[in-house]
Amino acid sequence: MFESLQAASADAILGLIAEHRSDPRAEKIDLGVGVYRTAGGDTPVLDVVKQAERTLLDTQDSKAYIGTAGAADFNAAMQALIFGAASPDDRIATIQTPGGSGSLRVAAGMILRASPEATVWVSEPTWANHVPLLAGAGVQLQPYPYYDTGKHVIRIDAMLATLRTAAAGDIVLLHACCHNPSGLDPSVEEWRAIGDVLLERGLVPFIDMAYQGFATGLDKDAFPVRHLAGLVPEMIVSSSCSKNFGLYRDRVGTLSLLSQDSATRAIVNSQVNNIVRTIYSVPPDHGAAVVSLILHDADLRNDWMIELTQMRERLQAMRVLLHDALLEKAPGHDFSHLVRATGMFCFLGITATQVARLKKDFGVYMVDSSRINVAGITPDNVSYLADSIAATLRRG
Ligand code: LMR
Repeated sequence: MFESLQAASADAILGLIAEHRSDPRAEKIDLGVGVYRTAGGDTPVLDVVKQAERTLLDTQDSKAYIGTAGAADFNAAMQALIFGAASPDDRIATIQTPGGSGSLRVAAGMILRASPEATVWVSEPTWANHVPLLAGAGVQLQPYPYYDTGKHVIRIDAMLATLRTAAAGDIVLLHACCHNPSGLDPSVEEWRAIGDVLLERGLVPFIDMAYQGFATGLDKDAFPVRHLAGLVPEMIVSSSCSKNFGLYRDRVGTLSLLSQDSATRAIVNSQVNNIVRTIYSVPPDHGAAVVSLILHDADLRNDWMIELTQMRERLQAMRVLLHDALLEKAPGHDFSHLVRATGMFCFLGITATQVARLKKDFGVYMVDSSRINVAGITPDNVSYLADSIAATLRRG
């Protein structure tokens, strides 16, 4: 049967990992996949994670199955982190999932069960795997305008106008913060306007929060989730601990489903657990157990927040560094959006041909759309990077 298959194309983001790794040039720079890096170019295990892992090694007494929903203590701590003090707990069901992608996949299963005719509206552009993942699960998708690639601003009016045309019951996928790939998020006022349209049109927000703490802080980054939770009857929230706890390969995330009342919540909870059983049965434990230890211990939690702040501040500092270097080396080009964006990503704003030349001529790797991961910038490589970009721009 396999002889009927054609080779699949390499993933637009993950494919760059192998390409960069096999490049022999010492000066190469990886601005591709979204992992945090230090000024030394490493992605170390957070100190606080190491501490929690040592405790876990000493105290964990079983590896028996926990169940489809994962660990209750982890889910409660994550629900509080996401929804905050005013969380409508009696209406929310939260389960532990294998990363944010696992959460999105289970959410797709819930959408297909609860509302198979609904369209999920996704930002144009959005994370490169949103469409393959959700469409691959069988969900119908439509794009809404989000980013003006010429002016490097959010197309809020066009976005709202498109959402006003959506059918009642349709679902709108929104990035809570650090929009991937653009790095530009709606302002508080714009979030309120988005919420008003969702409410007025009877649309269900589906929020992907993969970078809580990477834009401005844990609470501020969760504003869209908390604002909408107080406004709309139903909502889906996928969250990931890959970035803010640096637990990428351990696969830690949550799926939260807000229902209109607690009786519906109980039904939703039974359905979502049933879906999990049919996909991966039970989520992986280790990373979630680490997160739970950190969030339940005041000292560890404080240490985590310090490390998270350091990561956030380094990303912002690297944006400024590249922006200033380009101002000097590529005069006449406007890169101000680099410093207006937050989190790991933004577009450089160059063509796919120029992206290819940066890779071939200088060993600078980024996604074809010219999305860069600013964590790949360091004080040591920024000058070479800006020179490479300037030379590429001069060629046209
Ligand atoms: C990214 O966008 O680079 C990250 O979210 C990693 C991934 O899985 O694509």
